[in-house]
Amino acid sequence: MSGSTPAALRLRLHRIEHAARAIHLFEWRDPEGRALPPFTAGAHVDLALPNGLVRSYSLANDPAERHRYVLGVKRDPASRGGSACLHEQVRVGDVLDVQPPRNAFALDEAAPHSVLVAGGIGITPLACMAQRLRALGRPYTLHYAVARRDEAALIDGVDGTELHLHVDADAGDVLDVAGIVAGAPADAVVYGCGPAPMLAAFEAACRARPGLAWRIERFTSDVQAASAGGCTVRLARSGRSVPVPPGQSILDALRAAGVAVVTSCEQGICGTCETGVISGRPDHRDLLLSDEEHASNRTMMICCSGSLDDELVLDL
Ligand code: FES
Repeated sequence: MSGSTPAALRLRLHRIEHAARAIHLFEWRDPEGRALPPFTAGAHVDLALPNGLVRSYSLANDPAERHRYVLGVKRDPASRGGSACLHEQVRVGDVLDVQPPRNAFALDEAAPHSVLVAGGIGITPLACMAQRLRALGRPYTLHYAVARRDEAALIDGVDGTELHLHVDADAGDVLDVAGIVAGAPADAVVYGCGPAPMLAAFEAACRARPGLAWRIERFTSDVQAASAGGCTVRLARSGRSVPVPPGQSILDALRAAGVAVVTSCEQGICGTCETGVISGRPDHRDLLLSDEEHASNRTMMICCSGSLDDELVLDL
């Protein structure tokens, strides 16, 4: 992963399409018809919304396409302002800043088999992966859990032999996450994306199979952000030092000092705020970096992580 923020693209909303109950597909194109930066399956983009929020959404279309980015977004009743703004305020023709695609949920295209486990709107990156695997001629299975049949989106192009649709409320077919992971071929890579309880079961099942390759993408985190404070953050590029008082997070201290910091999820799950660490040991609270990346202390998510040392020097 990298800590630099590339220049935003200015993209126009070309089309909004109903995909399933409460789910719309938002298709973004360059206003001049230019090709968009390429992306890989599992990637996401950050949208700067008109209400001032920045939100990350997974790309749902075929990575071979260069003329559009398609985002599948569910209107979430518990929305913190992202999905509600997109569904209710953003209209076809609107132009927004969109950060070029980044991928924290990459597809292993060489895997002998891929098992994709999706819950709800978690289908978005996995539908993209399914298209890529199909194009590569690689075997895969897609397990997709929804409460009702009319909530299933983005499965039109998935072959019936590869798709296992589990409709919970309508048909009583509950997704057996543990059984799916336990039954995955030994050489498979297993991917999970969906609501927190499903992912907790997915992670537990994966950890019970040492040696199994697995990857996860989350929408929320239940890890508490570090707010012990009592340290100083030195900004290497400007030479400024920002004290972080006891009880305050690094993000809050930076903002209070007028330092511009771009964030999206503010829960350590999207990677938007990833920042290089020059010295000092972060108190990592994100769910994105691997154990090895945490141990290396080369970068940190400053939206949620703190400092284990009195001073932290950041590449800011
Ligand atoms: S803003 Fe998403 S990881 Fe920090």
